[in-house]
Amino acid sequence: MAYQPPKQVIVLPQTQQLKACTTIIRDKNTQRADFIFYSDRIIRILVEEGLNHLPVVEKTVVTPTGKEFHGIDFQGRICGVSIMRAGESMEQGLRDVCRSVRIGKILIQRDEETALPKLYYAKFPPDIASRFCLLLDPMLATGGSAIKAIETLIDYGVAEERILFLNLISCPEGIAAVVAKFPAMKIVTAEIDAGLDEKLYIDPGLGDFGCRYFGTD
Ligand code: URA
Repeated sequence: MAYQPPKQVIVLPQTQQLKACTTIIRDKNTQRADFIFYSDRIIRILVEEGLNHLPVVEKTVVTPTGKEFHGIDFQGRICGVSIMRAGESMEQGLRDVCRSVRIGKILIQRDEETALPKLYYAKFPPDIASRFCLLLDPMLATGGSAIKAIETLIDYGVAEERILFLNLISCPEGIAAVVAKFPAMKIVTAEIDAGLDEKLYIDPGLGDFGCRYFGTD
């Protein structure tokens, strides 16, 4: 039976446009300029979908015809948090949609001795605890970095249910690890792949997102 993600996971509508974009970024022959362009398109859709899961309040305005329009207004302030380095690729997509958005950063790397994810750097707006956080990392693989990042946000006072984790490609292992620890948090993902390979890359995935986006080895 096909994999059914837990209820905390929102998968983007699988439109032909999205599928064509993910096909391009997964292709090993795609050149960097196209990789960036089509990743940015997907990121934009992810951010828009993520924002749909934030609270709103009713708001009535008067249009130039003098009539009332009963609409809604955004409620609460937000903050982007990118997991360095690959998550930084998603910052512009958030800025394009949320003017002057604050963006915090987290650097997590594997500890040489323990092989566990270790926090090396975190910088957030001082009032982060009162904001909704959009956590940015393009690939949800084992979930190790994401879990460390979420623990860090919680240490800074952010409530679990105020965190939305946005990624382009995820897999059942990473989803299970994150959801088991943080059941009140939501994950917004463009596609869910089959699993992890022996090198802990997502299978079929797209290789190393950060290297392909930033043009490094
Ligand atoms: N990070 C990546 O860039 N790719 C993967 O497949 C897994 C983690």
